[in-house]
Amino acid sequence: MPQLHFTEEELMRSHDYAAPQIEAGERLHGGFDTAGTYLPPRTLVRGPAVDAWTAALEARGGELMKADSSLLAGIRYPSTGQVKLLLQEGLGQGFYNTLTITGKIEAKGRILADMQFPSFQPIVVEDISDMALGHLHSGLLKAHGLDEGGEPEKGIGGHDVMWFALRDLVFPEADYPDPPEPGNIARPENDMRQTPPISDGHMRVIYFLLNLLLIEFRAERGFSQTEELLMDPELFTADRAAAERAAEIVRRIRRDEEIHVTSLRLMLGEIRSLTFKTTDGDTISGHEIVDDFWHEISHWATVEQPRLAAEQQRALCRDRIAAHPEAERVQAAFDALEERDPAQ
Ligand SMILES: [Fe+2]
Ligand SMILES: [Fe+2]
Repeated sequence: MPQLHFTEEELMRSHDYAAPQIEAGERLHGGFDTAGTYLPPRTLVRGPAVDAWTAALEARGGELMKADSSLLAGIRYPSTGQVKLLLQEGLGQGFYNTLTITGKIEAKGRILADMQFPSFQPIVVEDISDMALGHLHSGLLKAHGLDEGGEPEKGIGGHDVMWFALRDLVFPEADYPDPPEPGNIARPENDMRQTPPISDGHMRVIYFLLNLLLIEFRAERGFSQTEELLMDPELFTADRAAAERAAEIVRRIRRDEEIHVTSLRLMLGEIRSLTFKTTDGDTISGHEIVDDFWHEISHWATVEQPRLAAEQQRALCRDRIAAHPEAERVQAAFDALEERDPAQ
């Protein structure tokens, strides 16, 4: 029987690195084994633990929360070709801002390390002590939060500092102002929706985890686009070595993100498989709690939200192009590279 119960200290444990990760003069999380392979932070025990909980869930007839490429749908604006054009026309500020904003969003993920999560055991019929869900507040989400926002008090940068470091590698002389935060595009709350009759605090945590899974899963779109642009031999030609190094840092971030997605799919898969005690003394199955809300937010994130975000970006890009001496030519070339909205 594999180990299924872990202490916080175990779940936070990192590999014994042969070398730490240092980039652009910054000490960053994770490190390398003797062969030079990158090892994500805090995964020495967390990695095998997630595998063991997953196997146990599947042995009970459950499955990971379904998350496939359909969740990556929706128009992406600007497209990879459009960003490339802007960079080639000397309008790199948008891409620079994207890297800064991504780092700032990652920094916010540190909240996971400081949040107090309620124990689910009081409202779940089955014993959850040997499940990921039983470890919400004993290191599983704390490790996740530190991956995103680092441990500044120890001088170790997480994903936030990794984005800033890779940005500075490819824009060594940029003196652009700090970008304003993009307007938040919130999903309109449907107050007609019936929330399942379980305790409000637990309900909020479940909705939070579902939203987080969607965000983590879809972040991959931007991350892979960034890596592709950095690896393009026609871009950042002044210092291709720096661009390739920056791409390598993106690759490490993507590697770190894998366990975020799998552990969220696991916790939500467990929730779907469990029986919950309702506030009126009855019971309800986990998939009834999860599935409708998941359907609603996935639709929003893959159809409605991308279209609104594209409108916002279209206006921003037009303003940026207007500053180019040949604005009309660039705008026409830019428009020709727009991704077709598959939903329209
Ligand atoms: Fe991250
Ligand atoms: Fe993440």
